Amino acid sequence: MPITRRTFLETAGATLASSALLCADDAPIRTVIIGTGGRGSDLIRALTTIDEVALIGVCDDYSPHLEQGAKYAGPQAKTFSDYRKMLDEMKPQAVVIAVPLYLHYKVAVDCLSAGCDVFLEKTMCYTVDEAKKLAAQVVASKRVFQVGLQRRANAIYKQAQAMVAAGMIGQVTSIKAQWHRNNSWRRPVPVPKGDANWLKLEKKLNWRLYKAYSAGLMAELGSHQMDVANWFLGTHPKRVFASGGIEYFRDGREVYDNISCLYEYELKGTDGKPYTVRANYTSLCNNAYEGAAELIMGTKGSLYLTSAKGLLFQEKGTDVVSWEGNKDQQTADANAAVVTAGKTLKLSNDPWAHRGAPFEIDIAEGNDTRDELVSFIDHVRRQDTKTICDVKVGMTDCATILMANQSVETGGWVTFPVL
Ligand SMILES: NC(=O)c1ccc[n+]([C@@H]2O[C@H](COP(=O)([O-])OP(=O)(O)OC[C@H]3O[C@@H](n4cnc5c(N)ncnc54)[C@H](O)[C@@H]3O)[C@@H](O)[C@H]2O)c1
Repeated sequence: MPITRRTFLETAGATLASSALLCADDAPIRTVIIGTGGRGSDLIRALTTIDEVALIGVCDDYSPHLEQGAKYAGPQAKTFSDYRKMLDEMKPQAVVIAVPLYLHYKVAVDCLSAGCDVFLEKTMCYTVDEAKKLAAQVVASKRVFQVGLQRRANAIYKQAQAMVAAGMIGQVTSIKAQWHRNNSWRRPVPVPKGDANWLKLEKKLNWRLYKAYSAGLMAELGSHQMDVANWFLGTHPKRVFASGGIEYFRDGREVYDNISCLYEYELKGTDGKPYTVRANYTSLCNNAYEGAAELIMGTKGSLYLTSAKGLLFQEKGTDVVSWEGNKDQQTADANAAVVTAGKTLKLSNDPWAHRGAPFEIDIAEGNDTRDELVSFIDHVRRQDTKTICDVKVGMTDCATILMANQSVETGGWVTFPVL
């Protein structure tokens, strides 16, 4: 059954209308941010464009980053080096957390305990045990909680997921995804190597490279893309085999500079029988060919997805997909790209801009970081705990990527843990 443009707009319109109805109090949400490094700065720049946010505090325990965050946030935001002091003094309603992975659990729990709604950057936690404990605490606290996997807010991915769910590419048979880059990930340390502070600053600035603070490429990059696989397949993988190592950047780092994973998902086919979908994932630091993308392959077509572009390639002989139905009954040529998501369906989920009415934006110009924050703040206002990337999604994603690292370490297949 093809999705018509009208069906899609009607569904989105209903959601937007109900969200507009529930918005009673229009006062901006008192928001603070913890961690004003690379990602924190992006988040601040997005937060300051959202009228419904009052960014009242910024915190970082590294002064050059705090200064940078304060500059982006503007003079109304008070600065802190101790986040507990900021929570006590500012009594925020919402907290955005962008600290290194090993601190996610502790900082998130402290914010929940202070009665705050929490936006926590991906990957949700450093271990599966922490993820389970955090999930229990989020549920018990009844606070609004969202993990920063921004593809969940991206109009292209949302459209593609609906296309897969509607059967437009047939039965999904395979997924191929990668994040390939050509850079070392290493940040310069502002003191010479012999300096007494060098090691402390190296670990502070290059935390991503050390296993005590980081889960490497899978947590930093793979978490986004394996979440897409979990989301589109509607389940988590059953098992994974992965191989990785440090083959090129032999600079003292502990996390792999390349990894290749083979995930297996167990699904039910259109004939009702179980079958396996294999998802191949690779991440590289020394070759950028293919960049970051996911390819979702099915019996009738393939969807090629990036944050700025979505393409549908139909298999030979299948009915040409069109948003208004297949009135003319054309059939596709092999591998013809017939739809670009940026042009076929223009939808935004910004609940304030148009107060309930569906409207059009150019997806290519969308900003999914802003969109995920807009959605989070909307949920905070409505005290709706069903966020677009809730603690269960975050926990599943966390377990999915950590099992690949475990497979590299043990050299064998690793099954998905009991959550
Ligand atoms: N969603 C995305 O696309 C995306 C992109 C990049 C990073 N991230 C995530 O954001 C998080 C931060 O990554 P980053 O690249 O910004 O790292 P970063 O090192 O640039 O920034 C982290 C900041 O946290 C600060 N910090 C550490 N401990 C603190 C404490 N106790 N109190 C206050 N501040 C503290 C550090 O000083 C640093 O400024 C990571 O979890 C990362 O995976 C997400």
